[in-house]
Amino acid sequence: MHTSSHALARLLGDWAGPGPAHRRLSDLVRLLILDGRLPLDTALPGERDLAAVLGISRTTVSTAYTTLREQGYLTARDRARGRTRVPPGDRQPEPGTAGPDLLDFSHAASPAPGEALHRAYTRALDQLPRYLPRHGYAHVGLGELRAAVAQRYTDRGLPTAPEQILVTNGAQHAFSLLVRTILRPRDRVVTDHPSYPHALRVLRNAGCRITPVAVTDDGWDVDTLVTAARGAALAFLIPDFHNPTGLLLSEVDRPRLRLDCPLVVDETMAELALDADPPVPVAAYHPGVISIGSAAKTFWGGLRVGWLRADRELVQRLGQARSGTDLGTPVVEQLACAELLREIGELLPDRLAGMRERRSLLLDLVRTRLPDWTVGRSSGGLSVWARLPDPVSSALAAVAPQFGVHLAAGPRFGIGGAFERYLRLPYSLDADPMRAGIEGIASALAAVRSGHRADPSPTPLA
Ligand SMILES: Cc1ncc(COP(=O)(O)O)c(C=O)c1O
Repeated sequence: MHTSSHALARLLGDWAGPGPAHRRLSDLVRLLILDGRLPLDTALPGERDLAAVLGISRTTVSTAYTTLREQGYLTARDRARGRTRVPPGDRQPEPGTAGPDLLDFSHAASPAPGEALHRAYTRALDQLPRYLPRHGYAHVGLGELRAAVAQRYTDRGLPTAPEQILVTNGAQHAFSLLVRTILRPRDRVVTDHPSYPHALRVLRNAGCRITPVAVTDDGWDVDTLVTAARGAALAFLIPDFHNPTGLLLSEVDRPRLRLDCPLVVDETMAELALDADPPVPVAAYHPGVISIGSAAKTFWGGLRVGWLRADRELVQRLGQARSGTDLGTPVVEQLACAELLREIGELLPDRLAGMRERRSLLLDLVRTRLPDWTVGRSSGGLSVWARLPDPVSSALAAVAPQFGVHLAAGPRFGIGGAFERYLRLPYSLDADPMRAGIEGIASALAAVRSGHRADPSPTPLA
């Protein structure tokens, strides 16, 4: 694989800033590699061509490439073009896997409700002997969990039969399985903009063309969505406490979402209604809609259980197609998830109360420590979308590990380098790490503004 100068320039976006240009360039390319926006083993553009496209000197590009080589992010000059790599033993974590010594602001996911999870697993183990005499493979999911998920949809205002549910290894698996099964390279897909980075990655990996439609502080522009969906192969929206903004598609707009193409809604955050009433699923208004859900945010990401709701035929088709990559979801996790779903009415109020508390702490901290940032209004989910006064999101994410924090830069949520003025701030951390994290971000921001450079081997704060 290779990337062209224009494609790299789009990924770099507006990369002006303080400090020497070659440093900013090497820092940002390194961040793009670590973020996965520049895939590994991608040949970078030739120096002369990139310099011309970026309007800088060839020496600047050459110095940046040399730095990247020295840091281990580019292969040595044994071939015409250096290829992206990650140096062995790099201490910068992959998104969402910050080491124990970094405060993870890159992930919007809460810790497990420990006691409830323990109880659910204990009950699951009690039931396990009933399953042991059988082979344990259930390509569409265990009947018990399919029934519990269907019941939850029915309780939320969308009558659902267990046969309409496919159990998957998380919402991400559900979406990638769907995309692999029903889409082809070059198909055009309409998405929110910003959107969930891993969903965008699924679409890019599948070779789809993405038509982004803006989600602004005012929410979704349904008329534009309807227009954009004409002739598209699919639309993928996150209407229930959208990631990253936390916005909710209004009850007025839900029935208006009549699109010309199949619509997939990701409802991973749907149960996390902090200010709003819990939303009635979009599929209750439009029967053909495919819904994706997950236990990850409601209960715990480590369960790795999600699901897809569709008509029976598509569920069967996807169940068959999944054998190309996996043969089912672990039995104990499915049983534990069914237990948790049965208890959701008792579990959720406390969990939501904790999230509200953490969100107000985060908003207070931003007001006091980052006073020139503005935070969009959110009504649920696990994050807010903060607007920065300058386009420094990637530069901030590049230096933040030196200040003890792991961030997901705004452009990860967009197409073509958009959102350099934005940062997703999750409120899933406890109070002390959240305070320490915002302090770290404030210090990192001061460093960026004074032209500080990113160190390839970050020294986390104690
Ligand atoms: C909108 C959205 N979709 C999918 C996922 C992934 O969910 P899972 O852990 O169930 O794969 C997330 C997790 O952050 C998410 O926010």
